Amino acid sequence: MKYSKEEQKTLIDLSKQVLNTDVKDVETLISILNFHEYKYYIENNPVITDTEYDSLFHQLRRLEEDPDNLRPYSPTQRVSSDLNEGFTTVKHITPMLSLGNAYNLEDLQEFDKQLKKILGEDARFKYTIEPKFDGGSIALVYENDLLVRAATRGNGQEGDDITANAKAIKSIPLKAAFSKYNIVKAELRGETVIHKTIFDQKNQARASAGQTIFANARNAATGGLRMKDPAEVADRGLETFIFQIAYAIDKEGNDILMQLRSHFKSLDILTALGFKIADKERKLCNSIEEVGEFAESWQAKREGYSYEIDGMVVKLDDFAMQERCGMTSHHPRWATAFKFKAKQATTTLENVEFQVGKVGSITPVAKVSPVHLAGVTISSISLHNEEFILQKDLHLGDTVLIERAGDVIPYIVKAIPEARTGNEVKITFPEFCPINIEDNVALIQTEGEAAWRCPNCSCGAQDLQRMIFHVSKDAMDIDGFGKSNVERFQSEGWLRDISDIYALDYEAIAKLDGFGQRSAEKIKASIEKAKHNPLQKILHSLSIHHLGKKASKLIAQEITHIKDLANWKTEDFTDIKDIGPVVADNVIEWFSNEKNLALLDRLEQNGLDLSQKEEDKPAVIDENSIFAGKTILFTGTLKQMGRKEAQTLAERHGAKNISAVSKNLNILVAGEKAGSKLKKATALGTVEILSEEEFIERTQ
Ligand code: IVH
Repeated sequence: MKYSKEEQKTLIDLSKQVLNTDVKDVETLISILNFHEYKYYIENNPVITDTEYDSLFHQLRRLEEDPDNLRPYSPTQRVSSDLNEGFTTVKHITPMLSLGNAYNLEDLQEFDKQLKKILGEDARFKYTIEPKFDGGSIALVYENDLLVRAATRGNGQEGDDITANAKAIKSIPLKAAFSKYNIVKAELRGETVIHKTIFDQKNQARASAGQTIFANARNAATGGLRMKDPAEVADRGLETFIFQIAYAIDKEGNDILMQLRSHFKSLDILTALGFKIADKERKLCNSIEEVGEFAESWQAKREGYSYEIDGMVVKLDDFAMQERCGMTSHHPRWATAFKFKAKQATTTLENVEFQVGKVGSITPVAKVSPVHLAGVTISSISLHNEEFILQKDLHLGDTVLIERAGDVIPYIVKAIPEARTGNEVKITFPEFCPINIEDNVALIQTEGEAAWRCPNCSCGAQDLQRMIFHVSKDAMDIDGFGKSNVERFQSEGWLRDISDIYALDYEAIAKLDGFGQRSAEKIKASIEKAKHNPLQKILHSLSIHHLGKKASKLIAQEITHIKDLANWKTEDFTDIKDIGPVVADNVIEWFSNEKNLALLDRLEQNGLDLSQKEEDKPAVIDENSIFAGKTILFTGTLKQMGRKEAQTLAERHGAKNISAVSKNLNILVAGEKAGSKLKKATALGTVEILSEEEFIERTQ
């Protein structure tokens, strides 16, 4: 059924209510779930997250535990279907079921309790735990050692025949020696996925070719399985992990699976047969506590893993016990999915604040109703620029879908227009600098840039951002002097621009609430140290538009004092390899502004050394350099210099610093207490090993 605007609004409102309360009405829940299935499967445009859907689904299942509540047309009474036209439908040898879910350690304990109920309180059993891949399910049938059929999950009973496509996936063996294990016919289950790096590359290529990009790796994988041309499948970089032998018989038709006894061992066999298994990522556990620990450790590692996983699957390891537990129409009782914390949520866009950055760019920041997501509470989300707001057609008051992957900053995936009441307000980007409205400074947009900028560089808001950047690790790296100190000292009236940082009154700081002699002295020491920072750092710390770390380094090598740049022409910049006209124009513009030159004077008066230092000088690399063309690695504690200093010295003599011992390493400098790296390098026999003294001697 198609839903009218009014109906959609009502159902979305109802969903929100139901998510926050326990609803007892089965019919309401069924209509809500039907609506969300329609949005997801028919329109391909979900208006709630998967987790929210799961939660509604579970509420219904709980109600249905009372048989009076069970309706034959309930969404729980079917396994969802992804059957497609254009493919032949094939029947699975055994049904492809879903999995029950566990969201925390208590749910795992409950799962364990249920199994003990079935198997007996004293039953001893093990669990296998392995990643739950987030891709497209696949079923592979092997007969007489040959791959004869591959199918999608479909509706669980029947799937699309995708044999030709599966044959294009290199990690699926076309031939596997099942006969070694007396197996003449087997059905395997697995998940087809895309490596995260390949996914990013494919999307970049699609974007530059003007094609639509994939919303996520799962869509790219499931779409990949259903392509009409197997050659295109091969090109998509799909890989298939196998996670289950669902069926295996010998030539008499006897069930071999029972003879294999353990799921964990069956995975060993699959590995031996050449299948791709999550081998290092699985574990055989003796208790549910051990399972919980492993699952939580993977929750923390999830982002760093090469493939998208949305949880861990816990399986009773013994096949005979699995059979005793049986299954519901929806999922086996002997397995469950420990779902990781959601990366998506829906919330309301309440307001937009416009913030000014260090080069005057205006960044719109969405203020949303606080919502818990992947371990943190989110209330502010950057909207990047005006184009982003227009593209997503965002309105104040909109219900928005937000996402956060690991440490990655949260972002707005989309607005949900179906949830609009009509009271939403279009977001308008300001024409004048929103920081000091009474100044009436018109914002400007440089051609080719999405950001609007405030050209009024004497605005205190920009100075604040520039000071925060100046002291940061990325710039002058003034230890112990972070954002909050900059804000505090600015509000005390002590800081107007970056030059004031070097003329602070430490006595006054010591008297501030929360400070004291010790912390004031610490700040002083860091600032004094920064006064002798290399020129490349100082240049970078000035917040010149487009001037990054690398370009600062390349430019600093060519000058003896920062003010030399006041006389530079475009060609002086562009003659340097890797420096383009955009950087040149921006640096020239900065140095042609009298106010900036006066700022440099103040910095110098306050003790900052603006001349070139040893570290800025270009490395004198010719074939006579002592370490020319050699790779070098420092290990252990160096006594006469810091690690960084030693690396710079080595670089200046032609060496390339690398970070690991391998056959590519030429020289290892072993300081005090050198450990495994020294051992490994010695064992290789090809690495020249130097003491710190020998290294220094060679560089003299
Ligand atoms: S076992 C009968 N193990 O998750 C048990 N499933 O919600 C069947 N999945 O459609 C599943 N990784 O495609 C199992 N290590 C894993 C898995 C896994 C991903 C998928 C599978 C299934 C869905 C179940």
